[in-house]
Amino acid sequence: MTGDPRQQSAPVVRPSVWETYGPADLSAVPVFSGGFINFGYWGSVDLGSPLSEGDRVRSEQDLYRQVLDAAAPGGGRAVEVGCGLGLGCALALEEYRPEAITGVDIHPQQLQRARLANAPLLEARPDRLRFVLGAAESLPFGDGEFDCLYSVEAAQHFPDLSAFAREAARVLRPGGRVAVASFFTVDGAPGHADRLAGLLDSFASGLDIARPASRLTDALAGAGLVDVRTRSIGPQVWPGWDRWLSRLWEPGTWPRNFLAAWEQRILDYYLITATRP
Ligand SMILES: C[S@@+](CC[C@H](N)C(=O)[O-])C[C@H]1O[C@@H](n2cnc3c(N)ncnc32)[C@H](O)[C@@H]1O
Repeated sequence: MTGDPRQQSAPVVRPSVWETYGPADLSAVPVFSGGFINFGYWGSVDLGSPLSEGDRVRSEQDLYRQVLDAAAPGGGRAVEVGCGLGLGCALALEEYRPEAITGVDIHPQQLQRARLANAPLLEARPDRLRFVLGAAESLPFGDGEFDCLYSVEAAQHFPDLSAFAREAARVLRPGGRVAVASFFTVDGAPGHADRLAGLLDSFASGLDIARPASRLTDALAGAGLVDVRTRSIGPQVWPGWDRWLSRLWEPGTWPRNFLAAWEQRILDYYLITATRP
């Protein structure tokens, strides 16, 4: 067992992750709103009308709702891996009524922000919400502690998806559910990584890692999980994200290339689910 809570030391954070979620504080960058740090699920937003700050926050919450609908945490113990500022944990508590939620993040500064952002809730319900330092690849929990594990736009940073899948299988009880939303290459064809590095600074810097979605689904199946499914949610993510970006970023600037990478069939956004038998 790799995740014995008593034997965990502080996780090693890759430099690009350390900088982005520490000193640079991506949550404070204007394109991310409301304390969330994800591209958003825009299916309920009218992209034909001018977008408001409210639309943007709605998109980020709706990405969580897609994942939580799939993870089905109602009544159980849930863990979110890569929880950022923990606003998704708060949303899950309010709307999905789990028994308790644990938010895990590799970055100590993100956890400080999460505790600050959720201070009243933590004080009111310490039995239902907690934030814990830990890496996806070595979760600081015992075997079978959780009824569901979910992750929103964090797996693109995990260096070792096989280790993450093994840990997900280990910390879930039999029958427990996994739901992961993130972006991956559409297949394992050679050249995708180089093309993404040419289009997008976040891949060139190593912050985001180019791998096919099948790398995670194979790893989940290899870890013994069953009913492993992949669904593209790109049509509800990329056009809306690009519309929102267009308020601040000119055409031709690198963040606008996420849409181009999707249109060129290099990158897509996926919701991946599995069950522990
Ligand atoms: C793009 S943010 C998403 C935050 C949140 N899920 C949201 O949607 O608002 C990615 C988060 O994953 C965390 N992270 C990166 N690598 C990680 C790892 N190996 N294990 C756990 N967390 C990680 C980062 O520190 C960051 O808070």
